[in-house]
Amino acid sequence: MLEGKVAIVTGGASGIGRATARRLAAVGATVVIVDRDVEMGRAAAAEVGGSFEAADVGRSVDWARVLASVTRRHGGVDLAHLNAGVNTGVWEAVESMTDEQYERIRGANLDGVVFGVRALIPALSARGGGAIVVTSSLAGLVAFSRDPIYTATKHAVVGLVRALGPALKDRRITINAVCPGITDTPLLAEAARQELIDSNFPIISPEQIADAVLSCLTGAFTGEVYVCQAGAPPVAFKFRGVPGPRAVGAEGMSPPDGYV
Ligand SMILES: NC(=O)c1ccc[n+]([C@@H]2O[C@H](COP(=O)([O-])OP(=O)(O)OC[C@H]3O[C@@H](n4cnc5c(N)ncnc54)[C@H](O)[C@@H]3O)[C@@H](O)[C@H]2O)c1
Repeated sequence: MLEGKVAIVTGGASGIGRATARRLAAVGATVVIVDRDVEMGRAAAAEVGGSFEAADVGRSVDWARVLASVTRRHGGVDLAHLNAGVNTGVWEAVESMTDEQYERIRGANLDGVVFGVRALIPALSARGGGAIVVTSSLAGLVAFSRDPIYTATKHAVVGLVRALGPALKDRRITINAVCPGITDTPLLAEAARQELIDSNFPIISPEQIADAVLSCLTGAFTGEVYVCQAGAPPVAFKFRGVPGPRAVGAEGMSPPDGYV
C-alpha cells in the first residue's frame, strides 16, 4: 500500500508514534523515527527496519538537519505524523509554572508542529505532494481544566490544521489532525492509569490511533479533525459556524474589501 513512500513520525520512540511507525512499516512505508529519546528512538527504528533522527522538534535548526538527512538517506519524504508531545505536569497551577516548563510544552506541542509543517511543505512539494497528520487531543476541542496550557497548545494545532487544509490544496498536500481520548501510553502516569482502569474509564489503544492516522495519511480529505475515542470509530468533528452577520463557517472566510 505505501511501498516506495517515506514517512516521518515524530515522537515515534514511544506510545502513539511508535504504534504509527509499526502500522506504516507494516503497509510498506520506509519509516523515519524523529525523537529526542535516542535509546528508545533507535530501538523503535530498528524494530520497523527504518532509520532514526535525534531531534528536539521544537528547535527549527533540528528540522533543517532532519530534512537534509532524510533527503540524503531516503531521497525525500512523502508522509509525516507530527505527533511528539508532552503535558505540563503542573496540573491546574498555571501561576506556579516556570518559564522552562512553559517553553518545554510549547516547544514540543506547538513549535514542533509549526516548524515541522514549515520544513515539510517544500520537501513534500518536491515529491509532487504528500500528507501530514498532527496529533492534537480531545483537549484540542474541549476545555481540559486539569492542564490549561496543554489545552491551549492542542487547540492551537487544531486551528493550524483547519487553516492550512485549504491553503495547501494547490500544493497537493493534505493535512489533518487526530484528537485522541485517553490513550494507553507512557504519557499516562501509572497512578492515573490505574485509577482510570479501576473506575472502568474507557482507554483507547495506541494501535487504534495509528489506524486513524493511516486513514488520514491515505485519504483525499484535508483540514479535518478526527475524534478518536475508545469503543467508537474515528469521527470527523463538525465545527459550528460563528454567529453573526459574517457567519460563513470554517472555510471561505475572507477579510472585507479594504481590510488591512
Ligand atoms: N496518551 C494520551 O492519553 C494522549 C491523549 C491525547 C493526545 N495525546 C498526544 O499524543 C502524542 C503522543 O503522546 P503519547 O501518549 O504517545 O506519549 P509518549 O510519552 O508515549 O510519547 C511521546 C514521545 O514524544 C517524544 N517527545 C516529546 N517531546 C519531544 C520533543 N520536544 N522533541 C522530540 N521528541 C519529543 C518523547 O520522547 C516520546 O517518545 C502527544 O502529542 C500527546 O499530547 C496523548
